Amino acid sequence: MKVCIVYDSRHGTTEKVAETIKEAIEKYTNVEVRRASEVATFKGCELIIVGTPIYYERPLKSILEFLEEHSSELEEKKVAIFIVCFAVAFGNLGRWHIQNHYIKPLMERIPGEIIDTLVLKGGIGNVSEGEIEKAKRWATGLLDF
Ligand SMILES: Cc1cc2nc3c(=O)[nH]c(=O)nc-3n(C[C@H](O)[C@H](O)[C@H](O)COP(=O)(O)O)c2cc1C
Repeated sequence: MKVCIVYDSRHGTTEKVAETIKEAIEKYTNVEVRRASEVATFKGCELIIVGTPIYYERPLKSILEFLEEHSSELEEKKVAIFIVCFAVAFGNLGRWHIQNHYIKPLMERIPGEIIDTLVLKGGIGNVSEGEIEKAKRWATGLLDF
């Protein structure tokens, strides 16, 4: 199976997570990681992992637009989403908000099969070891779908 990780990042946190995910699964599968602006097509990719940070209450515009541009190609793909944000620190109170304001706009733009989503707590250019471990476990689990 070929896995394509596509992300955007302003301060490098989401990029760090995307690279970590690649390292975690590359011993099991063919995987590439690219910034959204570098991706022209998903030809050959069976699983696409999309990553974005949250800024001003929404995923990055570049990722939302990217998903819209590649909508027809995504129809036949399996897709997994990860987001990196502060709001996850607000516990249950933040959960509804994250689902409706952060995850939903991404899901609405993905016509393919969304196999899983992951919410990580990220700083401005830094992410804890615990969150990195969570991302690795999640990504490895995706390979079973
Ligand atoms: C100016 C600014 C606005 C942000 N807005 C939000 C927000 O609305 N909700 C949230 O949960 N996190 C918000 N964050 C937190 C970022 O999503 C988080 O720091 C993330 O790890 C940044 O990822 P990046 O380094 O890949 O750009 C904001 C951060 C900054 C600096």
